[in-house]
Amino acid sequence: AQREDFVAGLPKAELHLHIEGSLEPELMFALAQRNAIDIPFASVEEVRAAYAFSNLQDFLDIYYQGMSVLRTEQDFHDLTMAYFQRVHRDQVRHAEIFFDPQGHTERGVSFDTAISGTLRAMDDAKSDLGISSHLIMCFLRHLSEEDAFATLEQAEPWLDRILGVGLDSSELGHPPSKFVNVFARARDKGLKCVAHAGEEGPPAYVREALDSLKIDRLDHGNRSLEDGELVKRLAEEGMTLTVCPLSNLALCVVDDLRQHPLKKMLDAGLRATINSDDPSYFGGYMNDNFLRTAEALDLTADEIVTLAKNGFSGSFEDAEFQTRAL
Ligand code: HPA
Ligand code: ZN
Repeated sequence: AQREDFVAGLPKAELHLHIEGSLEPELMFALAQRNAIDIPFASVEEVRAAYAFSNLQDFLDIYYQGMSVLRTEQDFHDLTMAYFQRVHRDQVRHAEIFFDPQGHTERGVSFDTAISGTLRAMDDAKSDLGISSHLIMCFLRHLSEEDAFATLEQAEPWLDRILGVGLDSSELGHPPSKFVNVFARARDKGLKCVAHAGEEGPPAYVREALDSLKIDRLDHGNRSLEDGELVKRLAEEGMTLTVCPLSNLALCVVDDLRQHPLKKMLDAGLRATINSDDPSYFGGYMNDNFLRTAEALDLTADEIVTLAKNGFSGSFEDAEFQTRAL
């Protein structure tokens, strides 16, 4: 209980959160009703029962289906505001949020609708809850680089409100190098670059994310540990890894939290952070991720503080913010 209070009270920054993955079943039902959309579930319990995954693709199939209830600017606002209200209780002070524009434009919801509702909630979270945030637009890697370029074009009027680009969705078979040109274009426009790599994909994908995409931050990165030279490089470069323990458990990246590599990462000198990824689907927000990992790996108070601090120092905020926060 002492550890619980300690973890709960720490200020936190979340750096790996897909806003569409924070859609709780209750809100899914409410939005389905508001928008007269049929969903293949009869109850909230049925939805939760469907959240049993053997791998990333299992999850993605249900994640893309879930977001089909999001249609209007207000829907995106309500989704995003619900996330901020929830993590306010977890002492989250700053969040760098992913969204998947192609998950919406593909089903006829405009880029502008999705981003404007999300941004309005981000403004509200700043004024009402004191939580600062940024938006990172992800390209779906199972789609083509040409599609990613079209998405970057749609983002053009919004670039002053977009911090960076990311890369998510099905990793295996879609290596980072597939997106080398669109990331170069994004970087030219002054956008930060991040990518999911080494969640299911091999260490070579992490190397590609570094060398081809020139990422500023690595999302997941678990499988980097299979490659000692790569670990050394990540440590030397001071690369931040946005690790998501309950996600890794839910998607069978690890069989048991006690086998989670987070402690090994810290021991190897990697700047690891703890994040929730898709909290509605993976069974926990920030405090749950911190607490369950701390218990499973028997983390010390120092290690827990380091993880929370790494969230701030790994953010894209300026140095003053990074040190003031904790
Ligand atoms: N991995 C890849 N794509 C995703 C994830 C993830 O953890 N969450 C949402 N899209
Ligand atoms: Zn993710």
